[in-house]
Amino acid sequence: MDGPGSGLAVRAPASGAELEACAELMAASEPWVTLRRTAAASLTILRDTAKEVWIGLVDREFAGFMILDLRGPLCGYIQTVCIRPDLRGRGVGTAFLAWAEERIRGESPNVFLCVSSFNQGARRLYERLGYRVVGPLTDFIVEGHDEILMRKTRGSWNAYRAAAEGDPQISRPQERPGDSSGPSTREAHE
Ligand SMILES: CC(C)(COP(=O)(O)OP(=O)(O)OC[C@H]1O[C@@H](n2cnc3c(N)ncnc32)[C@H](O)[C@@H]1OP(=O)(O)O)[C@@H](O)C(=O)NCCC(=O)NCCS
Repeated sequence: MDGPGSGLAVRAPASGAELEACAELMAASEPWVTLRRTAAASLTILRDTAKEVWIGLVDREFAGFMILDLRGPLCGYIQTVCIRPDLRGRGVGTAFLAWAEERIRGESPNVFLCVSSFNQGARRLYERLGYRVVGPLTDFIVEGHDEILMRKTRGSWNAYRAAAEGDPQISRPQERPGDSSGPSTREAHE
């Protein structure tokens, strides 16, 4: 891929200040403005150690972030993806999503995400990348707007478990889905 997306690097957050910068970016950006998500509420989500936060870098500079949830029946849920406004539309989000899909591949046959009903641009991107609509969560965050649950799948859990026998990259598939008792996997990937 040409453009900055091809040069994306991903790492864990380096400091609390970096998480605060993510929260500020999120609170200043759609769809979270319409969803009335404050920087303080964003920071609470970003500090939840049960989830994974990943920082995207382009030319070694902060380019955006992603929050993943690898627990429960929606294991493989991309809760948030946000790219710096001046870098949008240049392939960085596509590269970050590809990175996340590879990260999730070791944990689940499914990648889930939600897109706000008014966020046509993001929905177009997800559909282009192979995500399909599961259904609307009506009035889910704010009244008057739905969150559309989308899924990109490699197949059933049983097929995934069978394939995992010969794939060392797939970890603990016998504990999925629904297992939330294991340790956070973030440490294993830092
Ligand atoms: C959605 C987002 C992560 C995509 O990352 P990106 O680097 O801009 O995406 P890419 O350059 O890889 O792909 C371009 C596609 O992204 C979508 N897109 C571009 N700018 C966007 C924006 N400001 N908001 C939403 N989607 C956008 C469009 O579908 C675009 O395709 P098009 O050019 O055919 O219209 C990024 O635009 C962003 O952070 N948007 C604001 C926050 C957001 O909507 N996050 C998703 C919440 S579900």
